[in-house]
Amino acid sequence: MNDNYLKSNRELWDAWTRLHVKSKFYDVDGFKAGKIRLDSVVRENLGDVAGKSLLHLQCHFGLDTLSWARLGARVTGADFSEEAIAQARTLSAELSIPANFVCANIYDLPSVLSGEFDIVFASHGVLPWLPDLQTWAKVIAHFLWRGGAFYIVESHPFAHVFDNGDDATDLRVCYHYFESSEPIKCEANGSYADRDADCHITNYQWDHSMSELLNALLSAGLQIEYLREYPFLAWKMFAFMEQDADGWWRLPKRFNQIPLMFSLKAIKK
Ligand SMILES: C[S@@+](CC[C@H](N)C(=O)[O-])C[C@H]1O[C@@H](n2cnc3c(N)ncnc32)[C@H](O)[C@@H]1O
Repeated sequence: MNDNYLKSNRELWDAWTRLHVKSKFYDVDGFKAGKIRLDSVVRENLGDVAGKSLLHLQCHFGLDTLSWARLGARVTGADFSEEAIAQARTLSAELSIPANFVCANIYDLPSVLSGEFDIVFASHGVLPWLPDLQTWAKVIAHFLWRGGAFYIVESHPFAHVFDNGDDATDLRVCYHYFESSEPIKCEANGSYADRDADCHITNYQWDHSMSELLNALLSAGLQIEYLREYPFLAWKMFAFMEQDADGWWRLPKRFNQIPLMFSLKAIKK
């Protein structure tokens, strides 16, 4: 990965971490009071994790990782943002929730972390930061026991083609669906957790199609158990989305239903 892209993206995630720990979206006080910050789709799909070893890739500042620990998993979280990992370690110590947190670019993780896990987990907003899914899938396979499971829940690649600007009022095709080797140069305007925040940092993101994702996992020796698609999302991708009573973000009724999120489970053969 080009060093300039890596440096800019790290700078963004360090700044976003400082915003997110104070945000309503992440509700750190609620978490400290005992909340589990894992959505119903993830909880239902992964089931009972008690006693299992779980590696959380791109764990941000660890709320989901520590939630898995609260549910009885033995957890390791990894992320390339030093600020995020420092926050995660502080929370783990303050709340006495055992967890191992590792700071590394995901592609370097096999050289700094040892061991194999029952579950490798990643969720909500991870793929656009990755230039290369083939190597990413090999990292996943590297950390799984034979028979271990990879699980991801993520925004749907199809939804990424539409205009997600602050003034968007309709689904207007704005971006390529298919992957390209060069990233899209983006200017952050606030963050997904706080659109009004004063944070303007250039960052780089990559499109990935569904077939690129599936083929990368298959090539790494993972067998796909299921792929599920949903007409809702965990965050407000488009300015005109509406939040339902369960907290999911949906398109208003005047739109046809399109896939906004997917979940996938794969097993290491
Ligand atoms: C949207 S967050 C994941 C969100 C997480 N599920 C949550 O809600 O807490 C994406 C994470 O990917 C991390 N990240 C981006 N590029 C990375 C890379 N090359 N290696 C490791 N982590 C990376 C960022 O630091 C960020 O914490």
